[in-house]
Amino acid sequence: MKISVIGCGYLGAVHAATLAAMGHTVVGIDVDSAKIDQLSRGTAPFYEPGLDELLVEGLSTGRLHFSASMAAAAEAEVHFLCVGTPQSKTSNDADLSYLFAATAALVPYLAEGAAVVGKSTVPVGTVMLLRSVLADRKDVPLGWNPEFLRQGTAVKDSLVPDRLVYGVAGGRDASLDATGHAHGLTAVLDAVYEPLLRAGIPRLVCAYATAELIKSAANAYLATKISFINAMSELCDASGADVTELGEAMGLDPRIGGRYLHAGLGFGGGCLPKDIRSFRAQAAALDVDSVDQWMGVVDAINLAQRHRTVEIARELCGGSVRGQAVTVLGAAFKPDTDDIRDSPALDVALQLATLGAQVTVTDPKALPNAAMRYPQLRFVQSTDVALAGADLVLLLTEWDEYRQLVPADVGLKVRRRTMVDARNVLHAAEWEAAGWHIRGLGTGTAGRGTLARERTLGAPASSAVRAF
Ligand code: UGA
Repeated sequence: MKISVIGCGYLGAVHAATLAAMGHTVVGIDVDSAKIDQLSRGTAPFYEPGLDELLVEGLSTGRLHFSASMAAAAEAEVHFLCVGTPQSKTSNDADLSYLFAATAALVPYLAEGAAVVGKSTVPVGTVMLLRSVLADRKDVPLGWNPEFLRQGTAVKDSLVPDRLVYGVAGGRDASLDATGHAHGLTAVLDAVYEPLLRAGIPRLVCAYATAELIKSAANAYLATKISFINAMSELCDASGADVTELGEAMGLDPRIGGRYLHAGLGFGGGCLPKDIRSFRAQAAALDVDSVDQWMGVVDAINLAQRHRTVEIARELCGGSVRGQAVTVLGAAFKPDTDDIRDSPALDVALQLATLGAQVTVTDPKALPNAAMRYPQLRFVQSTDVALAGADLVLLLTEWDEYRQLVPADVGLKVRRRTMVDARNVLHAAEWEAAGWHIRGLGTGTAGRGTLARERTLGAPASSAVRAF
């Protein structure tokens, strides 16, 4: 099929390359001509494992093209809208201006029989609003096909998704003809995703509002799970329990499942934070207070983890970080991406710098983006150089290379062996055995430090336990 993908960011660039890999002829369109030039050379404008290879493959077959001109969409049978829907600068709402602008720009190039399908994450009700942009083209079918890919594993998530969701006019009942076969937009999307459907990927057809809400609800649930375990981490620190063991044990119950139950610095990035805020705004507009309040608590618990991390850093520096050499491992919002949007790591780094610490940040991939956005911080590419002379080290993004650090080796580089493992990924006992004072979030290390100190002073263990 001939397909256009409008918007070539994290979502669109991956979608275009994936559709070409499925055998379609695809043009990716974006208003940013520098991005288009880069994609046309087979290089993604951001770090995403496996994407460059997929782009090169698509370009070499002649099935994948990129263009900065909407006119390039004219021959396509299906147009996928993949532009960003960031948080509004003035409220919790999603900013839909790019979506409306892209759709309006597409209208003059819609061929007879072409379909328009959105993939961006949007508030419930958006498809009905978009219909008004297409008011003069009532013949054009409009659908919503939310995307569930994660950055860092986007290629795999797109080629082997957990499910396909189609939001179509009239919902599931309207998607079948009298003989029980898919027809209309459902049949068009089935043709687009034929290789995935053949491989047994489940697909669900529903009404617009349900498709819009499925995506928001899925992200809200993931955020809820993370904030739940982070609230438990606070309870663990207060009681001496270990949240990693707690999460592991809970996750073995298949009704709960262990994924997204990893406590630590919490979620960031361009999706979960803005999506739960948009969800709040949607719920409030629909007078559903429970969801509005719920998401407010999830957001607050998440942000509190950043504050807790800063407080632990202060505590480990004797009450103030002023003048202390602090090394931050990680700038990206999570490993395997160079995306720094709403990065918890950079938020903590900035808070420490504001409190007077001399902060050095390192990261395998995200430093160019971070340095552009936060010129007030010091960025060093080499982990060894970044660690040299540190009074305190904070592991804030769990890249593999930081998980594999050898405590004794790192100990030779720093000035004081003090570590905050805010992602709860290091083996605390190993670090302690190498002479480190290490703290996690809810991992019982708060208690271990207290016990160790009190034992050195000769206090009986029981009084140390009472001190919790
Ligand atoms: C998220 C969803 O997982 C995707 O399904 C969705 O398609 C995407 O948003 C989107 O809306 O486009 P993503 O933002 O790439 O994907 O990141 P995740 O892998 O979900 O991680 C989000 C954040 O949660 C990261 O900061 C990560 O460090 C944190 N996290 C994740 C935890 O703190 N604990 C966990 O147990 C899991």
